[in-house]
Amino acid sequence: MGESGTVKLAIAGCGGIARAHLTAYARINEKEPGKLRLVALNDVSKESAEAFADEAEKLLGYRPPVFQDTREMLRKAKPKAVDICTPHSEHHRVALECIRSGADIMVEKPFGVTLRASKTIIAAGKKHGRIVATAENIRRGVNQRTMHWLVNEAKLIGKPRMFYAIHASWNDPLKPRRWHWRIEKNLSGGGLVLDSGAHFCDSMRYFFGEVDRVYAFVGQFEKWPHDKNGETVYSEVEDSWVALISFENGLVGTWSWTMAAPGHSFTKVVYYGSEGCLLDSGDVFHGPFDNAVLILKDGTQRNMSELREEFLRSIGEEGRNRLFPHGFTDGITLECYDFLEAVQKRRRPEVDGEDGMRAKAIAEAIYESAKLRAAVRYRDVLNGRISKYQDPIDRANGLLKGKR
Ligand SMILES: NC(=O)c1ccc[n+]([C@@H]2O[C@H](COP(=O)([O-])OP(=O)(O)OC[C@H]3O[C@@H](n4cnc5c(N)ncnc54)[C@H](O)[C@@H]3O)[C@@H](O)[C@H]2O)c1
Repeated sequence: MGESGTVKLAIAGCGGIARAHLTAYARINEKEPGKLRLVALNDVSKESAEAFADEAEKLLGYRPPVFQDTREMLRKAKPKAVDICTPHSEHHRVALECIRSGADIMVEKPFGVTLRASKTIIAAGKKHGRIVATAENIRRGVNQRTMHWLVNEAKLIGKPRMFYAIHASWNDPLKPRRWHWRIEKNLSGGGLVLDSGAHFCDSMRYFFGEVDRVYAFVGQFEKWPHDKNGETVYSEVEDSWVALISFENGLVGTWSWTMAAPGHSFTKVVYYGSEGCLLDSGDVFHGPFDNAVLILKDGTQRNMSELREEFLRSIGEEGRNRLFPHGFTDGITLECYDFLEAVQKRRRPEVDGEDGMRAKAIAEAIYESAKLRAAVRYRDVLNGRISKYQDPIDRANGLLKGKR
């Protein structure tokens, strides 16, 4: 921080999501001028960093210096907080450099490329006394806060029993796409189970508590060609999964997604408890959505906007200011604000590295179960006793030495 308490912030990785973070910081800056100063932008691609600096200038009124090399950025710009928005395999590399230089960090989801990567970041944060946050925006939405309240406080569905979050659709595999790091397993760590799935894994923990066991199938039914600088390469990550997930509170969920299901597409997301259910609409990653509805045993129905209002009334003004400071309701603005507050006040961010890792461990338990063709205990995956799926990714990323 500067003398005034201004957070000297840098963004590492100036791609898609970093733009949403930049917009969020600009919104925060409008409400609390001087809360942050963007002192550096870091991207391995000079072109991306320069284009990003142009946007930053438009939004913030000044142009932050750009760096291609993280170490040089840390040495010259001396940020006290770094928001890491790089591909998954770079999260721990960039995070370690930042932490060692004395900066607090927020890392985009999924926290580390694997659990070893995640643990490496957490250990460094502890050693150097740095704040380590996970950028998890979805649980901060008003609907998700309402869902947390209706399950855990108002207990409107009663005791949670089962949920189904299932999506099937068809995505023409003959249409070649442009290469992206997300299709290479050693760069991404996996496919949508841990990518968009990171949000649902966090939401599951937030709504229902810790997972007990996982039994899953993960597969790829189609070859998905991509164009990598004129060469055809194929996706190495899943196009489908079915996961049975049991929780310590007795709840059992089925989470399944595929884009390899020709002929008929459908999405169904329902959370059942002893007294009724929450019928959601939309996808299997980011809900509940606005037209979700609570349906009780006796047929009574309440829509999401009524539930939201009741929840917001129940938490009072103090609660509303805490969860939605300045009236912000966009999850990314809220996660960025929480990070800045944690840095300034030296307090724990709501979703810290441990939370990021624990959400990530659900996704890894799905991959590990599929690899072993057996049910796995969540705890064994979290503790690293089961890591067959992750080992090659760790080897490729220098996190595990020696041959298999
Ligand atoms: N919260 C969300 O809703 C959400 C949405 C999209 C992506 N994400 C996450 O954000 C992260 C980035 O995803 P994206 O879609 O923005 O990817 P992207 O490919 O658009 O951007 C990544 C950027 O990082 C740069 N980069 C690569 N290695 C780097 C390094 N070592 N140092 C600095 N910069 C480096 C790349 O050049 C690129 O500009 C991922 O963790 C992803 O899962 C989150």
